[in-house]
Amino acid sequence: MQKAAENPVRIIDEIDSFYKLPGLVYSLGSRALVVQGKSFLKKFGYLEKLESLFRDKGIAFVHYNLKHFESDIRDVLACIHLIHAHHSDVVVAFGGGAVIDVGKAAAGICNEPDPSDTFYKGLSPQKIGIPLIAVPTIAGTGAEVTPNAVISDEEKNIKKSIRSPVLFPHTALLDARLTLTVPQAPSSYSGSDALCQAIEAYVSTGATDDTDELSQKAIRYIGENLMAIYERPLDLAARKKMLTGSVLAALAFSRCRLGAVHGMAHPIGIRYKIPHGLVCAILLPPVMEHNLPCSIDKYADIGNILTGKTLQNKTEQAFMGINAVRKCFRRMNLDITFSSLGVTEDFLDDIVKESLASSSMKHNPRPYTEDDVKAIFKRCL
Ligand SMILES: [Fe+2]
Repeated sequence: MQKAAENPVRIIDEIDSFYKLPGLVYSLGSRALVVQGKSFLKKFGYLEKLESLFRDKGIAFVHYNLKHFESDIRDVLACIHLIHAHHSDVVVAFGGGAVIDVGKAAAGICNEPDPSDTFYKGLSPQKIGIPLIAVPTIAGTGAEVTPNAVISDEEKNIKKSIRSPVLFPHTALLDARLTLTVPQAPSSYSGSDALCQAIEAYVSTGATDDTDELSQKAIRYIGENLMAIYERPLDLAARKKMLTGSVLAALAFSRCRLGAVHGMAHPIGIRYKIPHGLVCAILLPPVMEHNLPCSIDKYADIGNILTGKTLQNKTEQAFMGINAVRKCFRRMNLDITFSSLGVTEDFLDDIVKESLASSSMKHNPRPYTEDDVKAIFKRCL
């Protein structure tokens, strides 16, 4: 796989690479903490397989199921407690972005004097943690290759990113067969997040020729396969391309950052407990329209990548891309309003303030004012 030069994550992108996990763990340690979401491993029989494979290799392990919505600091601290209690020397995170972010944060900051300070006080990690093997079971966030973990404190409505080179996973193990188990709705949400990340990376003010190459390929892979998976959930080849596409998008945005959709998505998502990918799907088309005058050429490229068509008029070509995104989301029943999910204007001032302060917003191709954020929010309501 094409990879950003300075990204140190070892990527294994092979169907059935799950079976390489014991050997990988053994090369890094002998006592693993396995983090998972709800009951993924058990439900699909992978826990028994893993237990047997680890036993054969002489690897001891404990496992932890996430207990909170998305990636909560309480889960991170519980994992750190387990790491120390069981003398774990490697973490394996099996799941979607939230699980991988929790595993990543726990592995990365477990040796800090007070790991909660890293989150609440925003302190940079000073120590090296323990290695993480990230195993995505859904194509989406690309957290398996990024050096940051989005962590929240649900009770205090805090959601922020811990970012440090110590958070880079050691290995990302991409086994598309694991994603066959994902139900249609979360698969659509997560895939929409991946598409959004690829598009925001491409039009980001931090984009370079290198990140553009990654983003373009990501938009193509995701654009070609997002709806295919919705219509044919067992299409393993499409699942593999989606997983690769989401990783390419993450390799790009981890260098050039994201945009207004992600700036707004976090404060809205955490307040109303809406899955991140769904918030992104609702926000993406109006944000693309609003940004368009500041990045016509790039949005025209997106139109070409998503439809295969070239038009004389670049603005029309750009709109063709936005329409393709709308059509895809409509087909997956994601063309819904925030109000249908219980969102109101009650916290709008806070949402505006937090959106404008986010680092994603700073990389949006069009600078946003308070009125811009309010206008987008109200369009989506
Ligand atoms: Fe995202």
